[in-house]
Amino acid sequence: MKILVVGSGGREHAVIKKIKENPSVETIYALPGNGGIAGDAVCVPVAATDIDGIVNFAVENSIDYAVVTPDDPLVLGCVDALEAKGIKCFGPRANAAIIEGSKVFSKNLMKKYGIPTARFETFDDMSKALEYLETAPIPTVVKADGLALGKGVVIAETRDEAKEAVVSMMQEKKFGASGLRIVIEEFLTGPEVSVLAFTDGKVVKPMVSSMDHKRALDGDKGLNTGGMGTIAPNPCYTKEIANRCMEEIYLPTINAMNKEGRTFKGCLYFGLMITGDGPKVIEYNCRFGDPETQVVLPLLESDLLTVMQAVTDGTLASCDVRFSDKSAACVIMASKGYPSSYEKGFKITIPDDILPHVYVAGARLSGDALVTSGGRVLGVTYVADDLRKALDASYKAVRSIHFDNAYFRSDIGARALALKED
Ligand code: AMP
Ligand code: GLY
Repeated sequence: MKILVVGSGGREHAVIKKIKENPSVETIYALPGNGGIAGDAVCVPVAATDIDGIVNFAVENSIDYAVVTPDDPLVLGCVDALEAKGIKCFGPRANAAIIEGSKVFSKNLMKKYGIPTARFETFDDMSKALEYLETAPIPTVVKADGLALGKGVVIAETRDEAKEAVVSMMQEKKFGASGLRIVIEEFLTGPEVSVLAFTDGKVVKPMVSSMDHKRALDGDKGLNTGGMGTIAPNPCYTKEIANRCMEEIYLPTINAMNKEGRTFKGCLYFGLMITGDGPKVIEYNCRFGDPETQVVLPLLESDLLTVMQAVTDGTLASCDVRFSDKSAACVIMASKGYPSSYEKGFKITIPDDILPHVYVAGARLSGDALVTSGGRVLGVTYVADDLRKALDASYKAVRSIHFDNAYFRSDIGARALALKED
């Protein structure tokens, strides 16, 4: 089979390495991929948002199956466009990807169908939003409606901060059209859990739970990033919580999307907060999380391509989706200064025995050498019998990988370990 994977991050590298385990796979093309992915797939310089370019490539190269993982092409209708040419795909159509593409949509969906989430108001008029903030409970959370590279959420500790966020989104258009409508919602507290789930619109098969570390610096300090490391499973996600999530969140969400005529097929990401009132949805993503995928897929014992095809064909109910009961840890190595400004172009050296554990995100080839080209450069994942061993192995490997200005958090998994050992 010829497989096409759209995207260029560590998540796509993890998907590609896992798909490669299927013996019927002849070639995997990554559009556009990156310098590290080039070791596992044929990289083709077509941007992930160039829907026409992706469709033309797929048709010209007789692609058998396409996997679309980033949010932008999904929201732009990449799956719809490929399907229109008869190409089978993994990923939701645009009318379902809106569950991530519009927070106003997803919040209204949850309200309409009684799915637990933070209380909220939506605004498309700035003066009304500012007036509401005069009496809103503080802290409060201001969210841009549309995609904003993961930066469209402001946790405001004061009324002034909240107002500033509203003005920057609605008047200064910091996120362009994405911030012209906003959600202002209740600030929730509790541990966060990420759960990715396969769904064909009929059944939901959740993957092993995980925990992201979004802040740049140790001790959850510093700016929000795309994610500095992950561990799986998440110790806060007990069997009891998992059962409640299935009944109160996962199935109601799938059913709600069906009732709205927006059947969701693909990987649905539930960003959850376990509050004193039970689990609540913080956000939905219409795709695999990054870097959650880098710890979840290494624990998948079933064949990924077979599961994806079952999602496409609507036969997920009879498909085995099995996870190992081991633990996984992924430590991200970033360029110093990320997520603000950082230098790039530094040569990366990775010992050969570690390469199978490395998922490359921000690197390009310069001749034969791999050099840094992004903020998050790569992630290193190890699987072991317990979390402590997985973390030790990942950190040992990280310390043997070199590039100038490398930065990584030294406390990935520390909170999870403390919880487990309580
Ligand atoms: P999002 O982009 O929606 O995932 O939000 C980014 C991060 O902001 C989440 O992972 C949470 O840590 C935090 N966050 C979002 N919404 C809330 C909320 N209602 N209460 C508390 N924290 C939140
Ligand atoms: N790790 C969070 C996300 O992929 O959006």
